[in-house]
Amino acid sequence: MTGPAPRRGGELDLGPSDADIVDPDTYVHGVPHATFRRLRRDDPVSWWDEPDGQGFWAVTRHDDLTYVSRHVDVFSSAQGVTLEEMDSADFAARRNMLEYDPPEHTRYRRLVAKPFSRRSVYAYEAAIRLLARAVVDEALAPGGTVSLDFVTQIAKQLPMRMLGRLLGVPDADGPWLVERGDALLGNFDPEFTDHPVGLTNTDEYKGVPFRSPAALDLFRYAESEAARRRAHPTDDVISDLLAPTIDGDRLTEQEFKNFLVLLVSAGNDTTRYTMAASMKALVERPDQMAELRDAIQRRDDAFVDTAVEELIRWASVTMHFRRTATCDTELRGSTIRTGDKVVIWFVSADYDEEVFTHPYELDLRRDPNPQVAFGLMSPHLCLGAQLARMEIKILFQELLPRLADAQLAGSLDRMRSNFIAGIKRLPVRLTAA
Ligand code: HEM
Repeated sequence: MTGPAPRRGGELDLGPSDADIVDPDTYVHGVPHATFRRLRRDDPVSWWDEPDGQGFWAVTRHDDLTYVSRHVDVFSSAQGVTLEEMDSADFAARRNMLEYDPPEHTRYRRLVAKPFSRRSVYAYEAAIRLLARAVVDEALAPGGTVSLDFVTQIAKQLPMRMLGRLLGVPDADGPWLVERGDALLGNFDPEFTDHPVGLTNTDEYKGVPFRSPAALDLFRYAESEAARRRAHPTDDVISDLLAPTIDGDRLTEQEFKNFLVLLVSAGNDTTRYTMAASMKALVERPDQMAELRDAIQRRDDAFVDTAVEELIRWASVTMHFRRTATCDTELRGSTIRTGDKVVIWFVSADYDEEVFTHPYELDLRRDPNPQVAFGLMSPHLCLGAQLARMEIKILFQELLPRLADAQLAGSLDRMRSNFIAGIKRLPVRLTAA
């Protein structure tokens, strides 16, 4: 006779099945998974009206998302990748590399790819591990129990400190940079910005990224760091980005500044929020946390890598990106017109039951795992995916063996955003081993 199946624990709250997926307030209560499940089943390419826009098609199935991602000639990124609609002058000033199609995008990506390649990221491993160890040391009391906010005291710290190292800026600049990054990705949330979009008038900033004054601060920072590097090149990502390639091509000043803004926003909060969602999932499933800890302790790297992939799927932090139809076309029976906005919902595709067995169960052994949290089959596939994977893996490698017990210690807070699924606060009680 076999024993009982291992307890998987921690049911995922699927939320309501009739949520408004446009309203940023919806997500304060969590991702409305039941709504996305209904859409995938009944209306996989559905039309949504917007209070401040022309409306959009929501693409919710995994195979449709990869189809749209691949067919860049029909579903273009060159008119913006967020829901916001911009006039051409504002767009030209704000445009980042996500907002180009090939061949312009191919050129841009070639100019910035080197510091984020698998090879470069392996070279960062020792530095990430030292930083992770320091973060864990600072958070835990040896042999004792501490109550803390996992997000600010642990998850925020590692990507922030690593960003500072990559950019080659003083450690003291890290918190300032991250606060600006928070204001950008949290641009709908009054806790992160004095100018929340939709709640205040942000017209004055429509020509800057995320309609946020924080982007102007980052532009000034980028200008002064660039001037410093031009006078005295250093061995860091900023100098790499400014250097010409073999054929003499290089980023323009505006491209460089917009890329730095993208790095400080996309390259930071997303990793933090993935770590936070992962920790919540593991604390709620002690059996799985123990399984992962055991694998870390016996140095079963293959298991840990598979587990990290599942945690990234589970968190699916970047909920959507937008494309724009370049011609009339059909997608799963819906007629899409030239100029229509087409929004691909990564967070829905990552729970598509046609692709993932028992998608609402965390399965650290899930393999294959074609998660789309970083995009898939897209020229825009996340540039920082290797770095994010490594930071998440190392954080848990350093943290879990140090814990005898971990409990949730209060209710969590989520970001007001239909774009980023962010846990802002995760109170936990951690007992050191
Ligand atoms: C878990 C953390 C992360 C998630 C979930 C995430 C998610 C994404 C997604 C969904 C895309 C767009 C894919 C598409 O349109 O097909 C993207 C692109 C991008 N990401 Fe990430 N990202 C993460 C971490 C990072 C990090 C750490 C960096 C940099 C240090 C970064 C930099 C970028 C850049 C520059 C792009 C644009 C690439 C292009 O247009 O070619 N991301 N990311």
